[in-house]
Amino acid sequence: MRIERARGTRDFLPEEMRKRRIMEARMQDIAERWGYEEIRTPTFERSELFTLKSGEEILKEMYEFKDKGGRHLALRPELTAPVIRMYVNELKMVPKPTKVYYFGNCFRYEEPQKSRYREFWQFGTEIIGSDRPEAQAEIIALAYFIVKSLGIKAELHVGHVGLIRAILRDVKVEEAEINKVMRLIDKGEREEVIEFMDEIGAKKELIANLMRLIDSRGKEALEEARRIVTSDSDALKELEKLLEILDYYDVVYTLNAGIARGLDYYTGMVFEIYEAGGKLGAQNQVCGGGSYRLAALFGGIDVPSTGFAFGFDRLAETFALEERYLKRKEVVVVPIREGNDYDRDVIKEAIKITSKLREFFPTHLDVMSRSLSAQLSYAGSIRASFAVLVGKKEVKEGKVTLRNLDTGEQAKLSVAECVERVKAWFESSKGSGCAQ
Ligand code: HAM
Repeated sequence: MRIERARGTRDFLPEEMRKRRIMEARMQDIAERWGYEEIRTPTFERSELFTLKSGEEILKEMYEFKDKGGRHLALRPELTAPVIRMYVNELKMVPKPTKVYYFGNCFRYEEPQKSRYREFWQFGTEIIGSDRPEAQAEIIALAYFIVKSLGIKAELHVGHVGLIRAILRDVKVEEAEINKVMRLIDKGEREEVIEFMDEIGAKKELIANLMRLIDSRGKEALEEARRIVTSDSDALKELEKLLEILDYYDVVYTLNAGIARGLDYYTGMVFEIYEAGGKLGAQNQVCGGGSYRLAALFGGIDVPSTGFAFGFDRLAETFALEERYLKRKEVVVVPIREGNDYDRDVIKEAIKITSKLREFFPTHLDVMSRSLSAQLSYAGSIRASFAVLVGKKEVKEGKVTLRNLDTGEQAKLSVAECVERVKAWFESSKGSGCAQ
């Protein structure tokens, strides 16, 4: 009986893993250069970490279970709440702002479809200690430059949940109802927003204003916001300051007051990045983030924070690895058998040169006692660049035979010369590497 993968999960084969590691390294490199440090949190947490803010409703969307000790646990659906829990427990004494990044798998009990999985990966960053426009701009710019460094065509939308919340608070809509409206807006369910507002007795003019604000983009959105949002102008002022700083970073964005974000914890700026090359279909949101306050909820003092998370898998599905990374630069060391077994001196020498080569390149050594032709045919099938032949004759002469598998040329060299030749070839990827 064949055992299939669990629904919504994937296997990653070596080529895909190579690509993902290269992407991860690029993201890490940029985050480090922006002064962020890596952290890691557990794969599962106590369920209340996620239900405290969002309520029991969220359990439906999570992998949650009771362990043998009867504790209620959940596989993490995201990493922001775990990071803030860790901050409250372990990091609150470190200097602020605390700037961290993470890369880890997340689990959501969703209906799987293209680019929507039950196990997926997030790469994210959080600034703990500030939700000021400067922190907001830094987080947005960091996400923007990482996406750019991957050469992915993308569109960045920036909004502020404070605008819509202010409008609704003005007319005394209750917090729970505001959250419901935000969730409907997040799902793009326009008709339901209108219906719900109507149900709770909102005036026609207010509903029209709200819908106009949600629908407008760019300059027009800012004008609408200035016209409609009157009482809580703090949100508007903060947004205006943020947009100014984003211009200094040379970040290209679209103002979109209709971004509500699915998660309940956002308190200020929110942003999303969408893949714009048409490669992802409906699930084209590759990044989400914003300002929030969770520390007090987890028993710490109230600390403002700002962060984002990439949908790593969605980025991987759009990222095209540069040509130069596609062919692995591999070497195969070929001990030459006489009869059915290797000569002791031959295998000893082969292991020695393999160890030397492994300091520099991925190097294979036969583990199946195969014949010379079988080993060379394996080298060909994995598209290795070089074979290093070690026979009794070579051992006696203190040399090895280096064969370039692309050109067929070969030369007898000392181990040191052999390493230098292979290095030079891989560096230039030109020349034969075997010329005497
Ligand atoms: P989120 O928007 O729920 O935000 O998730 C971030 C990203 O994860 C999404 O933009 C999407 O690309 C990806 N994603 C979400 N669900 C799936 C799925 N089922 N399959 C594949 N990819 C998925 C958060 O999680 C927040 N913690 C972000 C944040 C960090 N806010 C502040 N700091």
